[in-house]
Amino acid sequence: MDHASKPQRRRIMLAAGACAVGGGTLFLSQQHNATKSWPHGDPLTVDIANLPEGKLKTVEWQGKPVWILRRRATEISALQAANVALADPQSAQSLQPPATRNTLRSLRPDIFVAIGLCTHQGCTPALNGDHFLCPCHTSKYDLAGRVFKVGPAQANLVIPAYRFDGERLVIGEDA
Ligand code: FES
Repeated sequence: MDHASKPQRRRIMLAAGACAVGGGTLFLSQQHNATKSWPHGDPLTVDIANLPEGKLKTVEWQGKPVWILRRRATEISALQAANVALADPQSAQSLQPPATRNTLRSLRPDIFVAIGLCTHQGCTPALNGDHFLCPCHTSKYDLAGRVFKVGPAQANLVIPAYRFDGERLVIGEDA
């Protein structure tokens, strides 16, 4: 987790830990309501100019961890291939801005942004090579946050409103 202060890290971990005590309620309601608005709020600007390929950066926004991943060209190509193992490959049921409703679930092919909380019960998955793996009940997501059929989570990761300002990312505002 880059550039997060100790209090930030504690808050993010508390948010992640909420999965065991009721955070699941929030996520279950989100995952079954694709018409609900994606998260917006007070904007947080993050400089991503020096974010290396393959690096996952986590920032706190509205008390939740937001992931920023710069994907490699090979990873982008792999995501664009059909994958029958995905539960919702076209993100028909996902909570995300319309501008990100594409295969890569992003405004830019290289930069992936998502709320870093599992849609099952809100634990924090970890980057594990070419996918994210949730430690709680082994739900698995690809590098576009699309959930695999294996595991209890059935909804793709939530994507918040965001836009680019050059090489700065503004989380909380639509493009
Ligand atoms: S919280 Fe259950 S699989 Fe992630």
